[in-house]
Amino acid sequence: MKTDNRILIEIRNSFTEDATNKTGLIEIIEKHHSYLEDCVAVLTDAETSNEDKQAYLYQFLHILHMHAKAEEETLYLSLMAAETKDARLEGAVGQDEHNIIYQLASELKDMDFNLAWSEEVEAKAKVLAIIVQTHLEEEEQDMFPLVKKYFTSSELKELANEYLTKCEDYLHYEMLTPGQYSAHPYAPLLR
Ligand SMILES: [Fe+2]
Ligand SMILES: [Fe+2]
Repeated sequence: MKTDNRILIEIRNSFTEDATNKTGLIEIIEKHHSYLEDCVAVLTDAETSNEDKQAYLYQFLHILHMHAKAEEETLYLSLMAAETKDARLEGAVGQDEHNIIYQLASELKDMDFNLAWSEEVEAKAKVLAIIVQTHLEEEEQDMFPLVKKYFTSSELKELANEYLTKCEDYLHYEMLTPGQYSAHPYAPLLR
């Protein structure tokens, strides 16, 4: 497999900058969404080579896991504890969609896509990419306006710090060598 950690390294390098600049929560999340969308574009493109799709899928699953877990443990938790039903529902819908995404990601891992690329892998990667795309669009169109409406600026600042710290932790463990990685409890996506 063509080894390419370029996007992961770029994301890792952006954490310090975001912490120093006190970038807002939604802005940071939308930036991480845009990395995922770049992967979606590759995985749904009929013209892209198998080798490139394989390299992007590897990074896609890592970014996905980092972003989804950090998002759940900060933003979704706060939404699900909100006083209004629309906010609670958005959090619960998001979590249910993440669970479907994890299931597909886990099936791809079990297919050993790193070792052998097949049409079955390509098909499942495309389904995952389309579901992720829809999920990101829903968050940006429906969830984030509610977040801006209900959360105070100090709550948003705190969530941004927590989200960034969790992303740093998750990505760190995602980027360890497979041996170290599998020994860690965060290891759901790669062996
Ligand atoms: Fe999400
Ligand atoms: Fe998201």
